Amino acid sequence: MKDLVKRLTEAYGPSGSEDKVREIIKAEVEKFADEIRVDSLGNLICRVAPKSPADGSDPKRIMVAAHMDEIGVLVSYIDDKGFLRFSPVGGLSPYVLLGQKVIFENGTVGVFGTEKLEDMKSLAFDKMFIDIGASSKDEAEKKVRVGDSAVILREFSDLGDRVTSKTMDNRISCAVVIEAIKSVRPERHEAYFVFTVQEELGLRGAKAAAYGINPDVGIAVDVTTWGDTPECAPFNVVLGKGVAIKAKDSSVIAHPKVKNLMIDVAEKKGILYQMEVLERGGTDAGAIHLTREGVPSGTISIPCRYVHTPCEMVDMRDVDAATRLLVGVVEELASSSGGGIL
Ligand code: CO
Ligand code: ZN
Repeated sequence: MKDLVKRLTEAYGPSGSEDKVREIIKAEVEKFADEIRVDSLGNLICRVAPKSPADGSDPKRIMVAAHMDEIGVLVSYIDDKGFLRFSPVGGLSPYVLLGQKVIFENGTVGVFGTEKLEDMKSLAFDKMFIDIGASSKDEAEKKVRVGDSAVILREFSDLGDRVTSKTMDNRISCAVVIEAIKSVRPERHEAYFVFTVQEELGLRGAKAAAYGINPDVGIAVDVTTWGDTPECAPFNVVLGKGVAIKAKDSSVIAHPKVKNLMIDVAEKKGILYQMEVLERGGTDAGAIHLTREGVPSGTISIPCRYVHTPCEMVDMRDVDAATRLLVGVVEELASSSGGGIL
């Protein structure tokens, strides 16, 4: 599992350029899905068919979503001396970019620099540039064009129970969903596991995927923040205390039946869990639940420290709990014979 997490987190995949991540995931799940397709936005959709389809009517559809994309930067201008100005892709802080390297899809590496600043408070993206080691515009343009995206260059580190790297948001959830696809056995209804694009720009991939799948119930898997480092804001979710079941964030209020099903499955299977209310931030469930006439939806969260920095940290025991909860919830939904949510 850690090897998979390393490969997924180190892969290049800013919003809108998720191909490399999609290829890794596709190779992992190919043998286990009954049907795999990529929609026109780039979402990877893996259908797992039921063992004994619900008789009489078409099987219902359970949609699980984890986004593949990561935050990054996009080149907006190249000056005469070969320095690159950039625009952020997703919720990035200029402060976390200081001292970092970036890598482009073609392997070009650069570092961030800043203009002379009166004080640190005046740091902003428009005071920053990327230096790829070029000494002229011509030289820079041999490697990079305006419109090219780059991501932070940062390797995975194994700290024991905990692991750190860039892009735990949300490749750790991709790993959870991959593991779920390998072991889940839906009874009567179909499960659609979707690896979505462009979540960090506003849940864009999930919106299109959910319209296409037209699910009866939706579950997003994503990271959430943390409440257990020195002097941090009070928050009910901490590392190592299990998977988080979301009640609310700024994109969705969990459907009570979905939330309660998650709690029931966790209790029944003895899975360690914590309840989550996130003041700011959203997940693909925000897009899924507003699809067509509405889709009851909820979110399974993985506690993650330092979200949206190059050194996000998760606890593998929480990751394991998340995997077991996801499999349990999908199987419970898929065995439903008309009562409950389906
Ligand atoms: Co994010
Ligand atoms: Zn995320």
